[in-house]
Order: sequence, then structure tokens, then C-alpha cells
Amino acid sequence: MSLERILILDDELVIRKALEEQLRRKRFSVCSVGTLGEADEHLSKDEYDLLFVDVHLPDGNGTELLERVSSMSNPPLVVIITGYGTVESAVKCMQSGAFDYIIKPFSSSQIDVLIKKARDYRQLVKVNQFLASESTVSGELIGKSGFVNQLKDVIRKVAPTEATVLICGENGTGKELVANELYRCSARKSAPFIRVNCAAISESLIESEFFGHEKGAYTGATQRREGRFELADGGTILLDEISEISPKVQAKLLRVLQEREFERVGGNKTIKVDVRVIATTNRNLAQSVERGQFRQDLYYRLNVFPIQVPPLRDREGDVVLLAKTFSQNFGRKHGKQIKGFSEDAIVALERHSWPGNVRELQNTIERAVILAESGQPIAQAHLGLFAMPTNVSAPPVAHAHAYGHAEAASPGYGAGYPAPPPPPPPHGNGGYYDAPPPAYPQAPAAPSMPEPAAMPSPVAPPVREEPPAKAPAEPATPLPLEEIEKKHILSTLESTEGNRTQAAKLLGISIRTLRNKISAYREDGEFIPGE
Ligand SMILES: Nc1ncnc2c1ncn2[C@@H]1O[C@H](COP(=O)(O)OP(=O)(O)OP(=O)(O)O)[C@@H](O)[C@H]1O
Ligand SMILES: [Mg+2]
Repeated sequence: MSLERILILDDELVIRKALEEQLRRKRFSVCSVGTLGEADEHLSKDEYDLLFVDVHLPDGNGTELLERVSSMSNPPLVVIITGYGTVESAVKCMQSGAFDYIIKPFSSSQIDVLIKKARDYRQLVKVNQFLASESTVSGELIGKSGFVNQLKDVIRKVAPTEATVLICGENGTGKELVANELYRCSARKSAPFIRVNCAAISESLIESEFFGHEKGAYTGATQRREGRFELADGGTILLDEISEISPKVQAKLLRVLQEREFERVGGNKTIKVDVRVIATTNRNLAQSVERGQFRQDLYYRLNVFPIQVPPLRDREGDVVLLAKTFSQNFGRKHGKQIKGFSEDAIVALERHSWPGNVRELQNTIERAVILAESGQPIAQAHLGLFAMPTNVSAPPVAHAHAYGHAEAASPGYGAGYPAPPPPPPPHGNGGYYDAPPPAYPQAPAAPSMPEPAAMPSPVAPPVREEPPAKAPAEPATPLPLEEIEKKHILSTLESTEGNRTQAAKLLGISIRTLRNKISAYREDGEFIPGE
């Protein structure tokens, strides 16, 4: 609902009333006045989306309003009504900022056309404003491994449908990129695509972000604001990191997913929207349901079509392909000619386990491009990765993920692992669990590395000592995954001297996830580096 409140300013009562009635029938909230003075009064009290303004008025010229509204923080569109329609006067109005003009007498269908044009324009402006403030990933889904080919195939099939899609996978695997592909290949590709990063918005604001608010709904709500569901009307909404929303917002979201309707915060008008929903999660939502952290009914509403994005370590051949593409892209960005990779660099790339997945690889290559000489290949030293002797076996799970191998993932199309866990107690639509088992076999785990690459110093190339080959030791009892995760997180925090933003980046998790984990460790009495 990008167009809602309309003000009509015309001293001819018949015109005013006819217009008012037509617009009311279309369910707009309409006010009409006969003088500039009254219009000013209304504009100072309320917000309007569209004004119809007559030129000749008892107390002045309607075009004077154009200048006044242009200084408003959220200016309405102005349509000039003129009885003296000449091309010159119309051009003048448009030059002064009018959205359009209409010549008396006009028909109701002319008004309909105008309203549609104004509504589309407002929607576009809002979407543009929103897009400008959000950074979204873009680009092609690169990969030639079996997993990625299957993923592309699934995207091609589900994208043109209206099905709600739940994209699961570890951090940095490309979930948002998959969501973008789904949108790009959908029938809604020319309608808005609105993303909400549920983890980045504080709990107190998320409701208003989703559903908008009315003026005065809370302290600081100085004007009415449309939420992201409204912005996405007619298009697609991406609920990124859906597992992070609170139970209260989960309940509200359920209603939108079921009924496609909601009320703005502080409002009582029910707003209906037509949106396709795509959600992503790096947590195992089925498990969150079992633990009582996520509503089961909402889970089923979201999990209509699950897509599992595989971790990079399981995509055979993709690391080098991606690395080559990224090196060319970053070469262009940093004005360097990169001549591929040295042999030892290729080996290091292939041996690293990429706990931060494609994002970690992308960052590693950007740093390497910066450190490499133009016209030369990227050497192993530029990558800042461990060179692991082939005979040293990796620790059981050397890196921890919110959503790793060890944690059962929700079943999904597009990747053949991990094995689907039993669904939470059956209620609602659990039908997809009957889907045939994934077509390709479990990929062998790539050797894991002890920790993600440390940020190389901008001056000295990040050459790391090879760990001395150790005598084979007695196999130690593997630590529980949670312990390994804790140790890894705390040591990363130590290496960043308590800098959480940097640590979250290195770990490939959101700052909010990191904060939550830190509070849990603090409660356990752990020493938190930097505190
Ligand atoms: N297959 C791919 N081909 C090219 N680029 C990719 C691929 N997968 C991921 N990327 C890039 O890697 C980066 C991380 O991807 P994205 O943000 O989609 O991951 P994510 O799974 O949503 O991560 P997070 O869980 O941290 O939000 C992006 O810059 C994206 O463009
Ligand atoms: Mg993401």
C-alpha cells in the first residue's frame, strides 16, 4: 500500500465530491477542501501520499503548494487539476515538480490511470530507497560440481512456481545468492525483491521493519512507515536468517504466511499483500522446533520447498574454479593483472577446508590479489593458508558451524547430505519427507584445517610456518562439537583482541550470532577475550 491518503483541493464542490467518492470507493482515505489555507492546515497535521490540486482558488494559486510540499521530508505526489488546459501551463506545473496534470472535465477512467501510475511510482521510489540502503549479493552461481549442478537444476524448477522456499546451509555457502537466483528466474522478476536480515535488526525494531508503523505508534515514530512486506507487495520477500526471530514476531509472521495480511504497528487497518516468501537459515530449524525455540507451525509454513546449499568443502573442483573467477574480478577491481595461481597455491586452496565457505574463499582471494604483483600468479604465501602435509590427518571437526556436518540438517533438495533427520512430530504438511533420497552420494569430507586463515598484515606477506610433522599420536577422544566451537570462537576473539566485528567476519557468522554465543559462554563463567 504505497498510496493510501489523498487530499483534494478544489473550490468546485461538484468536482470535489465526485472525485472524493470515486477514490473512497477504491478504499483510499480521502479528505477534500476548497481553499489553500485549509489544505495547508491538513498538510501540517497529517501525511498524504497524493494531492489533487486545482489551479484557480479563492485564496491563491494551487501551484503555490508545489513549492511548499517539496520541502517536506516525505513529500506527496501532486496532480494539478486545471480548467484552462494549455500545453504551456501544464509544462510549467511539471517543471515545478508536479507529478502529473489533468484537464477538466475528466472521466473516472482517467483518474484510474492516474492512480495506478502514482501507486507504481511511489512503490518504485520506496523500493529504490530501500535497495540503496541495503547491500545484497549479486552475480552468477559459479560451480561445476555435482552438488552445484543439482542445485542449479532445483532452482530452475522451483523458481517459476509460487512455492515458499526455505534455503538452508552453513554460513557463506551462497544462500542469499541462491535466493537471488530464485527471484531472477521467477515470474515476479520485474516486481520488487525485498530482503530482511532478521539477525541484523534488533528485536524491538523487527516488527516495525516487517509490518511498518503508524505515525505516533511509539516514541520516535514521527511519520507513517511502510514495512518490508508492504514494499514487497506484488513481488518477493527474502527473510534472511529466519531462525533469529523472537517468538512474538514468529506468531505475527505465521499470520502473514497463512493469510497474507497484517496490521502496521500502532494501526488497526488490515493490510493485504501478495508476496512470495523465500527464507534462509544457517541453523537446523527442525532441531530448533524440537528444542522449542521455533514454532512448529511456522516451520511447516516456511519449509514448503527446502533447498540445501552444500558447504564448499564438498564441492569437488569448485574451489579452484571459484578462486580463478574471483581473482579475475578482484584483479579488475584493484587494477591488477593476475596471471592465475602457482602450483603450490592451487594445492593450498584445495587442501583448505573453508569453514567460512565461499565468503572465506572470496576474502582470501581479495587479500591475495592485493598482495600479489601485477602480471604474476598468486603464490601460496599470498593466500595465508596453512600448507598441510598430506599425511597429517585433520582433527575430527576442526571448525565449528552453527550448521555443520555433525548437526543434522533439515532435508532439502539441491544437496545430498546430511541425511534427513526425522521431522518434528507430524502436524500439517510433512509430505516432502517422502521425497526420494538425493541422487548423489555423500561426498568424502575434504581434509579439515585447524582454523580459518588469519588476516595477513598489509605490509608483510602472510607466510605461515608449516606445522612440524608430528609423530603419530594416540587418537584422542574427540571433543563434543559445542566445545570445539567454543574454543574456536574464543581463540578467534583472542586473535582479534576482542574485536567482535572482525571475529564474526573471520568466523563467517553474523555479529548477532557471535554475541549470543558470547553471552552463553559468559553465563558458563568463561573468560571472554577483550572483556
Ligand atoms: N557459487 C557461488 N558462485 C559465486 N559466488 C558465490 C557463490 N556462492 C557464494 N558466493 C559469494 O559468496 C558470498 C557469500 O554468499 P552469500 O551471502 O549468498 O552466503 P550466505 O550463505 O547467505 O552467507 P550467511 O549465512 O553468512 O548469510 C557472496 O559474495 C556471494 O556472491
Ligand atoms: Mg546470507
